[in-house]
Amino acid sequence: MERTLVLVKPDGVKRGLIGEIVSRFEKKGFKIVNMKMLQMTKALAEEHYAEHNGKPYYDRLIEYITSGPIVAMILEGDDAVNIVRMMIGKTSPSESLPGTIRGDFSLNVTVNVVHASDSIENAKDEMKRFFPD
Ligand code: PPS
Repeated sequence: MERTLVLVKPDGVKRGLIGEIVSRFEKKGFKIVNMKMLQMTKALAEEHYAEHNGKPYYDRLIEYITSGPIVAMILEGDDAVNIVRMMIGKTSPSESLPGTIRGDFSLNVTVNVVHASDSIENAKDEMKRFFPD
């Protein structure tokens, strides 16, 4: 069994998509082992997106992710990191296919409904970041 972290980003929460997103993961067979709503502080956002510091979109990304409440959850299941990444779809709106969360609900590379860990190593760090206990 593998675990990964998913965030429903501020636009996903504002648009009332929490249930839709949770439902897709549950129907696929993932178990939700933890979940909470929170407001990301600037410090937490800067830690989470540290690898993007210096990119032209960085300031916009920090401003957006701290603009409203998000929902963080830990999903558990076989090959969770890869399968969840496949289910959320590609980062680029022109590559995120219909049937994926971003493909169905987003046209924007920043305001894109969800985040999911992109490797087992990052998943471990990100789960600790959002669920320190
Ligand atoms: S990529 O394409 O592999 O670099 O994308 P990835 O590393 O998965 O995620 C990049 C995160 O930064 C956010 N973001 C942008 N990426 C690329 N270009 C622009 N202009 C941009 N603006 C914001 C993007 O939404 C990814 O956020 P997360 O939350 O990690 O999915």
